[in-house]
Amino acid sequence: MKRRLKAERRGWFNRVAALALVGAWAAGPQATAAPAPSHEVTFDSHSFLIDGKRVYLWSGEFHPFRLPSPALWSDVLQKMKAAGFNTVSIYFSWGYHSPREGVYDFTGIRDIDRMLDAARDAGMYVIARPSPYINAEVDSGGLPLWLTTKKLNNRSADPEYLRYADEWLTQVDRIIARHQLVDGGGTVIGYQVENEYYLNGDDSRTYMEHLKQKARADGIQVPLLGNHDGAYVEGKGAMEVSGWDFYPQGFDCSNPSVWKPAPDMARSRKEGEPLFTAEFQGGAFDPWGGPGYGKCAELINDSFANVFYKSNIAAGATGQNFYMLYGGTSWGWQAIPQNYTSYDYGAAITEARQFEGKYYEDKRIGYFVTTTAPLMRTDPMPSAWLDDRGLIDIARVNPETGTQFHLIRHADSTSTAQSSARFSVTVDGQAITLPQKAGTALAINGRQAKMIVVGYPFGAQHLRYSTSEVMTAATIGGRDFVVLYGDRGTAGETSFRVPANAQVRVVRGAVHSDLKDGHLSLDYTHDGLAEVVVTGGERPLVVLLADRQATERIWRTETAAGPVLMAGAHLLRSATVTGKTLALAGDSDTDKDAVVFGPGVTAVTWNGASVPVTPSGAEDGALAVTLPTPAPVTLPALKDWQARDGAPEIAPGFDDHAWRVADLTTSNSITNPLSHPVLLADDYGFHTGNTWYRGHFSGAGADVPRGVRLRVLSGATGGAFSAWLNGHFLGSVQRGDDGTFPFPQGWIEKGDNVVSVLTVNMGHEEDYQSRNENRTGRGIAYASALGAPDHAISWRIQGHAGGEAAMDPVRGPYNEGGLFGEREGWHLKPGALPQGKPVTLPVGEQAPPGVTWYRTHVALSLPKDQDTSLGVEFRDPPGRHYRALLFVNGWQMGQYVSDIGPQHSFPIPNGVLLPQGDNTIDIAVWKTEEGPGGLGEVSLVNYGSYKSSMGAPSSRR
Ligand code: GAL
Repeated sequence: MKRRLKAERRGWFNRVAALALVGAWAAGPQATAAPAPSHEVTFDSHSFLIDGKRVYLWSGEFHPFRLPSPALWSDVLQKMKAAGFNTVSIYFSWGYHSPREGVYDFTGIRDIDRMLDAARDAGMYVIARPSPYINAEVDSGGLPLWLTTKKLNNRSADPEYLRYADEWLTQVDRIIARHQLVDGGGTVIGYQVENEYYLNGDDSRTYMEHLKQKARADGIQVPLLGNHDGAYVEGKGAMEVSGWDFYPQGFDCSNPSVWKPAPDMARSRKEGEPLFTAEFQGGAFDPWGGPGYGKCAELINDSFANVFYKSNIAAGATGQNFYMLYGGTSWGWQAIPQNYTSYDYGAAITEARQFEGKYYEDKRIGYFVTTTAPLMRTDPMPSAWLDDRGLIDIARVNPETGTQFHLIRHADSTSTAQSSARFSVTVDGQAITLPQKAGTALAINGRQAKMIVVGYPFGAQHLRYSTSEVMTAATIGGRDFVVLYGDRGTAGETSFRVPANAQVRVVRGAVHSDLKDGHLSLDYTHDGLAEVVVTGGERPLVVLLADRQATERIWRTETAAGPVLMAGAHLLRSATVTGKTLALAGDSDTDKDAVVFGPGVTAVTWNGASVPVTPSGAEDGALAVTLPTPAPVTLPALKDWQARDGAPEIAPGFDDHAWRVADLTTSNSITNPLSHPVLLADDYGFHTGNTWYRGHFSGAGADVPRGVRLRVLSGATGGAFSAWLNGHFLGSVQRGDDGTFPFPQGWIEKGDNVVSVLTVNMGHEEDYQSRNENRTGRGIAYASALGAPDHAISWRIQGHAGGEAAMDPVRGPYNEGGLFGEREGWHLKPGALPQGKPVTLPVGEQAPPGVTWYRTHVALSLPKDQDTSLGVEFRDPPGRHYRALLFVNGWQMGQYVSDIGPQHSFPIPNGVLLPQGDNTIDIAVWKTEEGPGGLGEVSLVNYGSYKSSMGAPSSRR
């Protein structure tokens, strides 16, 4: 029984009759500029339905706040779409939009309308996740910076908290509401309430109920989804569709070949709801000093996707969202203290917008799930008999078409054994053993799962069985196509029902065919791309037999005239058909040959220009095309550096009279004990990055401190602080909170003495368990004078210039902290660095601990019709101890800690970096130790360059 939305039953919206729409809805929404019709989003035990049609939600997580170039949002969305993703799941981070209490900003890089329009234009459904609390390894779990000083109970029914949360939701829901699919404004089909909320008491249930009602009151009509792992599946505050959150390999990427087993998602099924993973592992975050994202991509690799995502399908999941699909950058001070700047996540699309191996596995599975209609309504069925006891079959069947889906893998999903098996299934009512050919078997490599399809009707055809896997089937220009694949060098066997008079032609590759009793059997070894055309039936059948490598360059996209297939090209983003011309948009590399299968077309354009076309002459309607190749890119060296002192605060004579006197006597921080007066940076409105303290004391009289003991909270491993007395270096503490600094006798002056302390807030804690942990103190928690009363030292404090009141209106509240250069806005002013002196990198001479600000300019003129992804890389000899902030054209795109790492390479999105323009690179280096050297070698790095319809955006717009 189809379960209607509660919202609908309660009459929250008027359902207008669903309009018949052109195109394959199962594959995602059509990109259209026409007046938007109304739609309905429903669900039942089997799947979500859109306008009554079943849809497999193949979804990836993407955070616009981690890509501060709106022009590139479409790039990521198009790359997702090209891999068969029909849905994007998006967190909206409250703090990113609210620089201070009562102020909300949805402009520029924070333009949610633009993001949701881009999703619609890319043909993607959206699951909106404004929470209010998102976790997401983002500062305070997305709670705003200004909330760090409020006395309230986060994530609860506390009226004070709800007042603020509602303020955010009112703002963000208004935007989401106008992009819902149901009333035609956009493609939002689901709305998640809170995030991983497990508290279960009455207060918590009241909170969740409040959030649900708030969403409805704000005009949210689409299903309300959860991500609460078994909480809120029923009772007060229950979600309409539970969502599950699975990270089976956890977050330590150090041993990427060690696997934990696949969970059985079927245990999470709830009657009346589709089985849906609100988050399933798509990578992992990596801590300061961690093994690096390369290792996370290895842990959560294509084999992981192969075994785990297919196991979810076999468990009956018809909605899978992968976290992250594109991770991006926790630029500015957005990261939590435990994580460094990159949020690459080892995801399918790298931070630098390139494809990981997993991208192609996601594509193979994505095409299959979104275009194989019988898969969207299946029930469990008995397993096939297998002659290898180490293997299992998890089988499902569509009760209407009888299509069977057999997932064959090792019983121990972590096994690395190379196995092979014969198995028996019922085909056309008869039990047969596969493969049919004597002496052959189905190869199952370690950590591999194969989805064997039996009895699959598509177009006017019927696939009896195949030991290759189905990638997709499509009807194009009056021909039925099916793409099947397997590992290079392995045998494949496929059988179709065909008319008795069928004619078979092997267009390319080595395929043996056998026609008997109305069955066509194909025998072959997967090797590149083979093709067989079968005629004589209602419509020609084109069988494309690919090895896994070949599938990487097979693309499918939808047009108003039907689907298009392409074999070749680095990426096919979109296609449109006008008359006999097929206009393709995509990215090409040095391999220029491709074949296109389009509906009744004779001419092809690629990114707006005609390309040479050769018809194959075969019954497949193929056009061979030659694509343009990219020009080589040569990167200029970064030279002509200038440098200057960046920490005048160290000098005793520095004028700090305009700094805030530390005089607060109370704090709402959860940190205890605290100095009196309070010294925590947040309490004085300094929420990000570096905060300076200057403690004055008199060198005369009885109460002359003999030293200072400091407890400084910066977060986790990545933090540090340094202290000076009257300009003399007292020491630094890294990887710890406590430092005791005796004052050498000769350094104390008779009159005014100054202790200068440089601290850093590496981000506020998340509040995963609703304990107000975002209010953990930052900066100096406790300062004791040694040998004198604490009040002998009186402190002044200075962080981000202007505090909350003066956040950068373009870059937002996380971009900068309180280094001298940041307060002076050096990073925002191109041109010469004030009082900068020429310097050569790497810096070799002995430089004292402190801050040095470096600057260079680089003019780029990268090819305009190419999408080139660049970054900035640091290289240091061992033994260097410094931390650096990297600014590109004023945007803080990286924090580098030379002796912790692991990040050395910082992708800079085009738009922040100007690919055809003058760029200013600033690096603020905080040298924490005495010892040799300062800034090391710094260079540009190229992550990939393709001839592309994206071109090279010259601004963020
Ligand atoms: C999830 C959480 C996400 C993120 C993820 C780990 O459980 O919902 O926000 O923190 O874990 O990357």
